[in-house]
Formats: sequence, structure tokens, C-alpha cells
Amino acid sequence: MQAKHPKESRTTLTDLVLPSETNPLNNLFGGELLARMDRAASIAARRHSRRIVVTASVNHVAFNKAVPLGSVVTVEAAVSRAFKSSMEIFIDVWVEDRESGNRSKANEAIYTFVAVDETGAPVAVPPLAPETELEKERYQAALRRKQLSLVLAGKMKPNEATELKALFEV
Ligand SMILES: CC(C)(COP(=O)(O)OP(=O)(O)OC[C@H]1O[C@@H](n2cnc3c(N)ncnc32)[C@H](O)[C@@H]1OP(=O)(O)O)[C@@H](O)C(=O)NCCC(=O)NCCS
Repeated sequence: MQAKHPKESRTTLTDLVLPSETNPLNNLFGGELLARMDRAASIAARRHSRRIVVTASVNHVAFNKAVPLGSVVTVEAAVSRAFKSSMEIFIDVWVEDRESGNRSKANEAIYTFVAVDETGAPVAVPPLAPETELEKERYQAALRRKQLSLVLAGKMKPNEATELKALFEV
């Protein structure tokens, strides 16, 4: 299968924060942001694989900045690495300043999607060829994150996680 570039899967969703999507502090409810990120990541995974895709795991979410009611929020997702049937998707969340229009990074997350056939069985996806420095950085670190996710899910023994050895060696 021919390799694809991250830009081929890049997906941008821009939407407002409405009153029904906020918490008691009038900031965006975390579950709503998770859903928006899942939607963008799912489209990115589908664009990369051109298959049915399912969320396998949410590996990392950082709610670093509250997002106030009325904000314009942009969720940007792209495949950061493809393995056999699974794809790591990196998601950046931006909030737009009403007056200046400048964007600032509010949150980020990393999801794993798996491409499946009509019966739900995993199928192969094209490899990823990163181009920019940031894409290369994210690509390099993705195997370590995959192994950590599998260890935490009880699907890989810690001693099989080749990329994590250095983490545990003092
Ligand atoms: C995701 C799913 C297809 C994986 O099926 P499985 O039987 O574990 O299949 P495999 O063990 O062959 O794993 C398939 C791939 O997923 C990866 N994977 C599975 N669990 C993972 C996890 N927790 N973290 C990271 N990767 C994971 C495997 O490493 C493998 O990757 P690779 O093929 O690129 O090497 C299956 O668990 C599933 O259908 N889950 C439900 C998905 C769903 O409904 N999501 C919506 C949630 S509401």
C-alpha cells in the first residue's frame, strides 16, 4: 500500500460553544469537547484508511485551558502514525479571540482508531510518511505511546514493550 501524508487526513471542525454545551462555570463541558475531538479524529482516520474506523482508545487528553461560552473552537485532527490496522490521531484544539481573531491553543488529545471490515475485523491501513518537523516528532513518539496504551489496557506485557524499557531503567 502506498504511504500517505498527514495533510491528506487533516480534518478541521470549527463550531461555537452554545449554552447547552457548558458546565456550571459557563465553560465548555469536557464530554462535549471529547465528542468533537472523536468526530474530527474519526474523519481523519477514515480519510487516511478509506475504511470503516472505530475508536480503540483515548491515550491522552489535556484540558489545559477552559473554553468560555460563545467561543469559536477549532478542532484539528490528523493521523500521526499508522501501524498495521491502527492509526494514532493527534488532535489540537484552538480558540479564536473575538476581537483580534488570533488563535490560541486550548487543549490537545491523542486517540487511536482501528480500521475494520463490515464484520468488525481489523484490516490493514496505508503507512504514514511524515513531512514537517512536528509530524516527524509525533511519528517518532507514537510507537512508545502505542505500547504504553496496550500495556495499560492489559493487552501487552510490560516486558514486551521494547520502547518503554528506557522509561523504567534508572
Ligand atoms: C478496536 C478493536 C477493533 C480492536 O480489536 P482487537 O480484537 O483488540 O484486535 P487486535 O488485537 O488485532 O488489535 C487491532 C489493532 O488495534 C490496536 N489496539 C487494540 N487496543 C488498543 C489500545 N487500547 N491502544 C492502542 N492500540 C490498540 C492493536 O495494537 C492492533 O494494532 P495494529 O494492527 O496496528 O498492530 C475492538 O476492540 C473493537 O471493536 N472495540 C470496540 C470499538 C468501538 O466500538 N469504539 C467505539 C467506542 S463507544
